[in-house]
Amino acid sequence: MDAIETIMTTRAIRRFTDQPVNDADIETCLKAAQQAPSGGNLQPQQYLVFTEPDRKVELARWYKIAFDRYEASLGAPREFRDDQSRRSWKRTRDASRHLADHLQDSPAIVLFLQAKIPWEPRDEQGPMDIGRLDASVYPAVQNFCVAARSLGLGTALTTVIRVYGDEALEALGVPAGRFEIAALIPVGYPSGNFGIAPRKPAAAVTHWNQWGDRRR
Ligand SMILES: Cc1cc2nc3c(=O)[nH]c(=O)nc-3n(C[C@H](O)[C@H](O)[C@H](O)COP(=O)(O)O)c2cc1C
Repeated sequence: MDAIETIMTTRAIRRFTDQPVNDADIETCLKAAQQAPSGGNLQPQQYLVFTEPDRKVELARWYKIAFDRYEASLGAPREFRDDQSRRSWKRTRDASRHLADHLQDSPAIVLFLQAKIPWEPRDEQGPMDIGRLDASVYPAVQNFCVAARSLGLGTALTTVIRVYGDEALEALGVPAGRFEIAALIPVGYPSGNFGIAPRKPAAAVTHWNQWGDRRR
């Protein structure tokens, strides 16, 4: 696939067919993830791939209670700009609920684990903000998702499991205190179609040479 078309049609896919995903395809996506940039080329992530039903059920249990809590915190829907944004909000809400109820049925689930390491250089003037450590993990996550799209596989970048991240990692036997979950990615063949997701036009949020100079 053309790279731009692949990127443009990579969006959150939360409903999957029963078709299994080849381990080799997941390995290809992980190779793409590994090629992502990271601060100082630190590569602070590890991957946990789940394809066995029992393991997926355990992970899904934590995801569901995290999502239930998050969803309950959201409150009543706000006003919408127009019908299209109302429909888009409803689609996302329903699909997110569906994923929370069916995560264990995803053919594969990949956890991106971020090492818990000090990441704040300092000198005699004090600590320096050089960007957060997770900025070195999410490029890998997106590479994974784009590579999956190029193979016809759907993914969704999710983080809500972080609400119970430590508990989930302990239940899954990950060494205590060494990692946090940067992302949980379900992987499978989409039960719907890929398409270009609604976004603000780039021109509406781009300033050329001077703040406020937009090209529309
Ligand atoms: C940092 C981040 C966290 C997200 N967490 C979740 C999540 O926990 N559960 C979920 O269903 N979707 C999650 N999403 C997916 C977003 O809801 C989705 O990217 C957004 O609605 C746009 O979807 P679209 O590309 O299909 O338009 C997350 C996305 C990002 C970037």
